[in-house]
Amino acid sequence: EQMLYFSENLLDWYHTHKRDLPWRRSKNPYYIWISEVMLQQTRVDTVIPYFHRFIDQFPTVEALATAPEENVLKAWEGLGYYSRARNLQTAVREVHERYGGIVPQTKEEISSLKGVGPYTSGAVLSIAYNKPEPAVDGNVMRVLSRYFLIEEDIMKPATRTRMEKLARELILEGTASDFNQALMELGAMVCTPRSPHCLTCPVMAHCSARDAGMEEALPIKKKA
Ligand code: ADE
Repeated sequence: EQMLYFSENLLDWYHTHKRDLPWRRSKNPYYIWISEVMLQQTRVDTVIPYFHRFIDQFPTVEALATAPEENVLKAWEGLGYYSRARNLQTAVREVHERYGGIVPQTKEEISSLKGVGPYTSGAVLSIAYNKPEPAVDGNVMRVLSRYFLIEEDIMKPATRTRMEKLARELILEGTASDFNQALMELGAMVCTPRSPHCLTCPVMAHCSARDAGMEEALPIKKKA
């Protein structure tokens, strides 16, 4: 009941409140992939112009696969974490050579690509292909830990595993793309780390952290 309420209300809210972001205008898996790699390290506002320039310069898997690495690093300049750009090009070259330029549609294949971890694979499979895979990042763990009052250390691998199972179970038939983006959007815009905007939250009525007055105390993140 708490689960169905969450999924239905979050989806409704997303349909009316989602931001118009450039990577939401297309389901091109290559574009989604680029955006997710950029967004892992950098804020949305910073990413937007880089995303436009990057897909302008490297519009296809083939374009990025065959580009000189120095051009790719140049386009990445200012985003930081250059190993991500290098890994991305390595992985895109593999998609070009091994998969004929088609981004793989299975967890196994996509996860075998350089630099593609559980978050990125879930994000691309769900957002681009609408596959019912979870995409659990820090924002999503914050939302789930609060709504379901999960008081486990999010630095522990077992906690992430639990969150992935829960996130998978929350996906209603045929809604993976919107649902995963809705979770991210709620974490970014409403269920923020400090001073969450509970009064505008579409699922406040059944939020366990809100009930307990614990929203600012969650998620629990112990030092490494
Ligand atoms: N953060 C990570 N992925 C995102 C997405 N697809 N949209 C907005 N913020 C994000």
